[in-house]
Amino acid sequence: MDSNNTLVGFGAGKVILLGEHSVVYGYPALAGPLSRGVTARGETSNKCQLVIPEALTPEQRKVLKAAFGRAMAACDEPGVRVSFNTDLPLSMGLGSSGALSVACARVLLQAAGRKASAMDVANVAWEMEQEFHGTPSGVDHTTSAMEQLILYRRKPGAESGRSKVVESPKPVRLVVVMAGARSPTKTTVGALRERQKRWSERYQRVFREIGLLASEGAEAVEEGDLEALGDVMNVNHGLLAALGLSSPGLDDMVHRLRNMGALGAKLTGAGGDGGAVIGLFHDTAPAVHELTRQGFRCFDSQLAGPREEGATRGAA
Ligand code: MEV
Repeated sequence: MDSNNTLVGFGAGKVILLGEHSVVYGYPALAGPLSRGVTARGETSNKCQLVIPEALTPEQRKVLKAAFGRAMAACDEPGVRVSFNTDLPLSMGLGSSGALSVACARVLLQAAGRKASAMDVANVAWEMEQEFHGTPSGVDHTTSAMEQLILYRRKPGAESGRSKVVESPKPVRLVVVMAGARSPTKTTVGALRERQKRWSERYQRVFREIGLLASEGAEAVEEGDLEALGDVMNVNHGLLAALGLSSPGLDDMVHRLRNMGALGAKLTGAGGDGGAVIGLFHDTAPAVHELTRQGFRCFDSQLAGPREEGATRGAA
C-alpha cells in the first residue's frame, strides 16, 4: 500500500535465457526477472473492476476483460478498482502479459485481505495467462511471481509447473535489444505446434536437446562459468532457428551482439518475425552505448548473482 492508501502490486517482465518453446512440451527452461514490468494500483470501490486503457483494440479489450474476470473470481471479487501502467516494451517476448497478470493478482489478493506467497500470486496470475495465451507453459508468470532466476518445468496437462531457484556466484548481466516487430506469441506457438504434429519425432528430438541445454546452462550459472553459459545460449539460438523461430532481423542482431563481444547471444521469448534478442556480457555498458548510438532500443539487466552496492535489479 502506498501513502495514499492505494494498493500497489508489481509484476516483473522476464527473459528466457534458455529453453523457450520446448518448455511448452514439458522440457526445462531457464528464465529470470527484469526490473522493468507492470505496476497495478487498486482503489476501494463498490465493484471489482479493471480500468482498460483507451488505446486498446476491441479484441484486446475483450481478452483483457475476460482475463481479469477469471482472476477476480479466483479472489472472490473484492471491492477494488484496478488500473495499471508499464515500463516494459510490449509484445516483444519480455513477458508483458505475465507481468500484468502478476501485478493484478498482487492487488486483488491484497484487496481480498489474503496474505499471499509467491505461489498464491502465481496461481491467480495463471488464470489470466491462460486467457491471454491459450496453452502457455507457465514460465512467464512464474518467473514474474518468483522474481528470481529459475529452472522451470511443466509437464503438458499438469496443474502447475515446478521451479528450482538457480543461484549464481557471479553477476549474470544481459543486454536486451528490440529487433523489429513480432508476431503474437499465440501465432508463433500455434504454427510450431502444427509443424511438430506433422513431424513429431524430428521436432521432439530438437525439443529434448534444447531441454538439455537449459539444464546445462543452469549448471554453468551455478558454477559461475559464464563462458559455458554463453556457448549454450549460442547453440540454443541455432536450434531455435532450425525450428523456424528466427528471422533475418533477429539473426542480424545476434551476430551484431557477438561482434560486440557478447559471450553468447540468442533470441528470447516467442521469436518469429522479430522481438527481443539478449546478449551475455561481463560489462554491458559499452554494448548499450554502441547499440543506442546505432538507433536501437535496448537496456541492460542483471538477472542473478551478487549486485554492486546500491544497484537495483536491471538498471535501464
Ligand atoms: C513465451 O514467453 C515463451 C514460450 O515458450 C511460450 C510459453 O512458454 O508458453 C514461447
